[in-house]
Amino acid sequence: MAQHRIALLGGDGIGPEVVAEGLKVLDRLEELEGFTTERVDYDLGGRRYLATGEVLSDATLEELRGFDAIYLGAVGTPDVPPGVIERGLLLKVRFAFDQYVNHRPVKLYPGVTSPIAGLTPDACDFVVVRENTESVYAGAGGTLYEGTPAEVATQESVNTRHGVERVIRYAFEVAQGRRGKLTMVHKTNVLTYAGPLWMRTFQEVGDADFPDVEREYIHVDAACLYFVTQPERFDVVVTENLFGDIITDLGAAIQGGMGLAASANLDPTRRAPSMFEPVHGSAPDIAGTGRADPVAAVISLGQMLEFLGESAAAARIDRAVGTLLTERGDEVPDGATITTATVGDRLVELVGD
Ligand code: NAI
Ligand code: MG
Repeated sequence: MAQHRIALLGGDGIGPEVVAEGLKVLDRLEELEGFTTERVDYDLGGRRYLATGEVLSDATLEELRGFDAIYLGAVGTPDVPPGVIERGLLLKVRFAFDQYVNHRPVKLYPGVTSPIAGLTPDACDFVVVRENTESVYAGAGGTLYEGTPAEVATQESVNTRHGVERVIRYAFEVAQGRRGKLTMVHKTNVLTYAGPLWMRTFQEVGDADFPDVEREYIHVDAACLYFVTQPERFDVVVTENLFGDIITDLGAAIQGGMGLAASANLDPTRRAPSMFEPVHGSAPDIAGTGRADPVAAVISLGQMLEFLGESAAAARIDRAVGTLLTERGDEVPDGATITTATVGDRLVELVGD
C-alpha cells in the first residue's frame, strides 16, 4: 500500500479552514483508494511570526525537505509588513526546493458563471505554466540614497538559459498531453535582453524535441485581452514569473473567482517536495465566518494526489468538484446556509460516487 508523507502548512486566516476541508476529503479518498498518508502539522505564517519573530528556520526547512509533498493553505496577516512572509516563507520554500514550475489550471466548471457573458466550459480550459524561481523574484537589485530626493531603486529580472529551458520543456510536455498547443507570453518588444533568450529557447526546444506541438507567441498585454475575449484560443501558456503571477489572477477571475483557483509549485525532477496551494490568500476579511470557499484548496489537493501518483483519487476530486459546482450554481458559502464545512462535507460524499 502506498504511503505518502505530507507536511501541512495551514497558515493564517482562512488557510487552516480550507485545509481542514481538504483533509476531510483526503481521509475519505484513502478509504476509497487504499493508500495512506502520514501528515505532520507545521505552525507557520504571520500569526506565528508575530508571536515568535520567526518565519521559517533553516532547521524547519530541512525537515520539510524530507516530505513527499507540502499542502499549504495561505499565509499572511494584515499586521505583518509586506514581503516578510512572502520572501521568508513562500519564496524561501519555492527557491530552496527548486520548485521551478507554478502550474495553474484555468478551467470553467459547468454550473459556474464566468464574469465573461456567455462563456462556456468548453471555451475555457487551459493551463498557465509560470516560471517560479527567477525574474524579479530572484531578489536582485538594491537602493541608494534611500529616503532622499536622489533615491535610486533597481529591481532586476534574472533569466538563465537553464531556468528558462526547463520550464519551457515542462510546458511543452503538458501541451503534448493535452490539445497540443503552447503559447509563450512575454514582452519581447520591450524586454530586449530577456525576451530573445525566452524566444530562442522556445523555438529551439520546440524544433528539436516537440515538433508535434503547435507554437504561438503573444505579448503579455495582448494576452490579457485574449484571456477575456478568446480564452478558447489557449491550451497551455508558458511565461516568466511576474507576468505569470499577474495573468493567473485574471485567469482566476474568468474561471469564476479566487475560491476556485488552484496551483501547484512543482519540482518535476522530484529531488525535493512540491507544494500545493490555492491561489488565494488568507482573506482576513472573512476568516472565522464560514464564508471561505474550500474548493480551490480541494482542487489543489487533487493536483497533489495526481503528482504523487494517486490518479484515481485525483480523478474522483475532479468529478466531485464538477458535480458540486453544477449542484450549487453560484451559491458560494455565505456562512449561514452554505458554509466552508458544508461544502467540505458534500465533497466528502461526492468523491465516493
Ligand atoms: P486574498 O486572496 O486573501 O483575498 C482577496 C479577496 O478574495 C477577499 O475579499 C477575500 O475575502 C476573497 N477570497 C479569497 N479567498 C477566498 C475563498 N477561498 N473563498 C471566498 N472568498 C475568498 O488576498 P488579499 O486580501 O490581497 O491578501 C490577504 C493576505 O493574504 C495578505 O496578508 C497577503 O499577503 C496574503 N496572501 C497570501 C498568499 C499565499 O499564501 N499564497 C497569496 C495571496 C495573498
Ligand atoms: Mg499572485
